[in-house]
Amino acid sequence: MSRITITTLQAMKNRGEKIACLTAYDSSFAALLDDAGIEILLVGDSLGMVIQGQDTTLPVTLDEMIYHSRCVASGSRRALLMVDMPFMADADPQQALLNAGRLMKEGGAQMVKLEGGALQVETVGCLAGHGIPVCAHLGLLPQSVHKLGGYKVQGRDAETARQIRDDALALEQAGADMLLLECVPAALGTAISRSVSIPVIGIGAGPDCDAQVLVLYDMLGITPGKRPRFSHDFVSDYEAGSSDIASAVRRYIEAVKSGTFPAEQHCF
Ligand code: KIV
Repeated sequence: MSRITITTLQAMKNRGEKIACLTAYDSSFAALLDDAGIEILLVGDSLGMVIQGQDTTLPVTLDEMIYHSRCVASGSRRALLMVDMPFMADADPQQALLNAGRLMKEGGAQMVKLEGGALQVETVGCLAGHGIPVCAHLGLLPQSVHKLGGYKVQGRDAETARQIRDDALALEQAGADMLLLECVPAALGTAISRSVSIPVIGIGAGPDCDAQVLVLYDMLGITPGKRPRFSHDFVSDYEAGSSDIASAVRRYIEAVKSGTFPAEQHCF
């Protein structure tokens, strides 16, 4: 079985075929998601919240990301492995280069994801120039939660929407291979997905993004507290079949592929 690469994902976007992504933090889930047909496994720094029980993603360290990345890499054979740069690991281009290198060499990452808009253009160019595939995360940036004053939808007004769109174009130009848009109005998700040629992953960014991602534990309905509006519990929603985890993951993949997820109630 051959690995999915950024070339595979680019070809899927070009064909208008939707891409399914979920977070994973360990080997057993990685194998289950891989067998179900997930195309991208994201070792997200959301692990700080769902694995470690922290209030934010900020305390997560590079060594912890490497550890979980290695666990996921050992369980997966097919999906592309994307790994988050934790808070401050990408504070300047040189630091980002060294840390992305560690995620790839020690963690088995095939792509790194970093948060930020125009400020990250130089860093993305530096990583791309060294042959490191990059996904740039825009919209709601969880690592900036204190600056944003909470986990809020971004790009609701014309000025911030234009800023996010300009950042998307600048990051593509700098060499990003993929974008991730979190918590933006669906219309902005549509506009950005259509104006860049690279694949756009959405989470709370509407149905027109080229790919969708959810935090695994949210879609399994096991995250304590209130589920975010953009998420969906695919385990409890088993009209069409059984309620085991593998079936829920297959239902999620089918819903992404057919365009039935996200539905209107998951959008802003
Ligand atoms: O850390 C993470 O899991 C993420 C997703 C919310 C996209 O970045």
